[in-house]
Amino acid sequence: MVVPDSKDKMYYPSDDLQKDAHVPGFNSYLALYRKSLETPEAFWKDVADEFFWKTPPVGPMLQYNFDVTKGNIYVKCMEGAKTNICYNVLDRHVRESNLGQKVAYYWEGNSPEQHMTITYSQLLSQVCRCANVLKRLGVKKGDRVSIYLPMIPELVFTMLACARIGAVHSIVFAGFSSESLSERIMDAQSSILVTADGVYRGEKLINLKQIADEALEKCRKKASSSITKCLVVKHPALRTKSGAACNKLQTPWDSECDVWWDEAMRDSPDECEPEWLDAEDPLFILYTSGSTGKPKGVLHTVAGYLLYTSLTFKYVFDHHHDDVYWCTADIGWITGHSYITYGPLANGATGVLFEGIPVHPHVGRFWEIIEKYKVTKFYTAPTAIRLLMKYGQEPLQKYDLSSLRILGTVGEPINPEAWQWYHKVVGQGRCPIVDTFWQTETGGHVLTPLPAATPLKPGSATFPFFGVEPTILNEHGEELEGEAEGYLVFRKPWPGIMRTLYRNHEHFENTYFKKFPGFYVTGDGCRRDKDGYYWITGRIDDMLNVSGHLMSTAEVEAALTEHLAVAEAAVVSRPHKVKGECLYCFVTLKDSREFNHTTVEELKRLVREKIGPVATPDFIQNAPALPKTRSGKIMRRILRKIARNDKDLGDLSTLADPKVVEVLFSHRCEAAA
Ligand code: PRX
Repeated sequence: MVVPDSKDKMYYPSDDLQKDAHVPGFNSYLALYRKSLETPEAFWKDVADEFFWKTPPVGPMLQYNFDVTKGNIYVKCMEGAKTNICYNVLDRHVRESNLGQKVAYYWEGNSPEQHMTITYSQLLSQVCRCANVLKRLGVKKGDRVSIYLPMIPELVFTMLACARIGAVHSIVFAGFSSESLSERIMDAQSSILVTADGVYRGEKLINLKQIADEALEKCRKKASSSITKCLVVKHPALRTKSGAACNKLQTPWDSECDVWWDEAMRDSPDECEPEWLDAEDPLFILYTSGSTGKPKGVLHTVAGYLLYTSLTFKYVFDHHHDDVYWCTADIGWITGHSYITYGPLANGATGVLFEGIPVHPHVGRFWEIIEKYKVTKFYTAPTAIRLLMKYGQEPLQKYDLSSLRILGTVGEPINPEAWQWYHKVVGQGRCPIVDTFWQTETGGHVLTPLPAATPLKPGSATFPFFGVEPTILNEHGEELEGEAEGYLVFRKPWPGIMRTLYRNHEHFENTYFKKFPGFYVTGDGCRRDKDGYYWITGRIDDMLNVSGHLMSTAEVEAALTEHLAVAEAAVVSRPHKVKGECLYCFVTLKDSREFNHTTVEELKRLVREKIGPVATPDFIQNAPALPKTRSGKIMRRILRKIARNDKDLGDLSTLADPKVVEVLFSHRCEAAA
């Protein structure tokens, strides 16, 4: 890495930002980065000293084997030390730093009339009450709790309550289908499900409890229902008498299994001694798409995750006590886990917890909230930026955005046009953009600028965070120096990296460590420019990134082929103006079945039901046959070209029947399905 001296247009941190920054200037970054690699024990020990340890660490901060040829892969951080992450993100502030009255969250609902403020003391009290409810329902240390809740405060209460009693939370994004939920409940073998009666998404009322019940029914049918109780929150928007929706929603009820949250919480004590856990005890499981189609239960543990999310939050958003920070992600994804709950709370931050969507009830909703709470640090996804760009500058001009100091993005590569708009229009040319590259598996940011230190190049996630050593390999596993493009891998672990895939360590080793022994393989392609800047070029496995949500082509194909008329399906990605990528599906029907509008609608519905609305295909085309190699492998490379109407097909010598390609071009979908 060199101090950048580039011909690219660069954006330098302002003097104003550097004045009171934690890492002011590129040389400070370099010095700390070197320290993190040369003396990692001392570096992470300093970070750990900020926290409370019931039994302080005695052994090494980090132990690991990253090389499959030398034995099992493992990573351990501070093993033997005892702590509790919930204590560290709540009690520590309330008891030791007198922050009880500080606002932890401004909750802003789907509609602007719905909002509330939660202080650190209030949060602690609700978390303790919920922890006592879970205990009363039989939850013990190590048990799994599935959480299927919208972005309401109870979601945070429940996840921290689990952490407090040593239960392992498994949060399932509330936009997922009953099928996806049941699959995740069965894999985690959870004993409790926490859900809500319903939720408004924009104008639409969704009966979450019904979906949850369908999921439980599916578990029962497969004879693997581990769930003993279902705790049901009455959504704040459905609680009031004036909420006309109350009458619209029939909440199915099984009095053997279902328990109303309010009733259970009513007389629950608001004190609960934390369970003192080993640093390496599991904290949560979060499912992420796998290229085989089966979701992978990424497992994170207590101490390493605390250290890493806390430090990345502090430095990447240059957190200060008087900040108001807003991350627009859903807690159902890793971004919400790390940068709405654990990282910000570990720093005693004030955050906005937003339930709604960017365009409801109007397209200025984000800007309205920034003005209302005087948000200083704002973190969103490129897909949201591209969506809001479509409405031009006018919706922003109605609001005062002068509180903003730092902007962030995550989830997918940000295209230069969106970067410029974010910088100029949202940040008024004043705010640096931290383009943070990371994954569910990495736990926190791994490539990212630091706002007062890193000169920015639009579209580049710039440099590694402390303790992280990226490198680029070619197909043969050889390390590439200087300017290069290839596989992005990491040479050694940092405290926040996942420890395993739940109940499937072998799959963990095969997926991330087998291809290039000695390295963690991200699955992303990457380019390093002459100044050492890293540029993510996108997935190089069979994964797609639709609106920042990762999904595998295999899981969508599996859903499509469940349709009785479908013989075979192949799914590829096609560029999309707002979503970044979208799904383009080739479907071969069984003999005598006719491909028509109804088939397309049925297939779309099927994918929505099996996976969830995020996976709805944009294009479904008739494929009388698929291009295959002589050995019968589908040539996705060709399908990607057809989806993009790119006739430059390259080498077709391995193609079994070239006529197939002509036919597919003639059936192409021009307009979205
Ligand atoms: O392909 C990369 C992309 O999102 C993937 C990780 O997805 P997930 O585990 O769902 O976590 C998303 C939120 C952390 C990565 O493998 N990705 C994430 N951030 C970026 C990105 N691609 C380019 N630039 C980013 N900043």
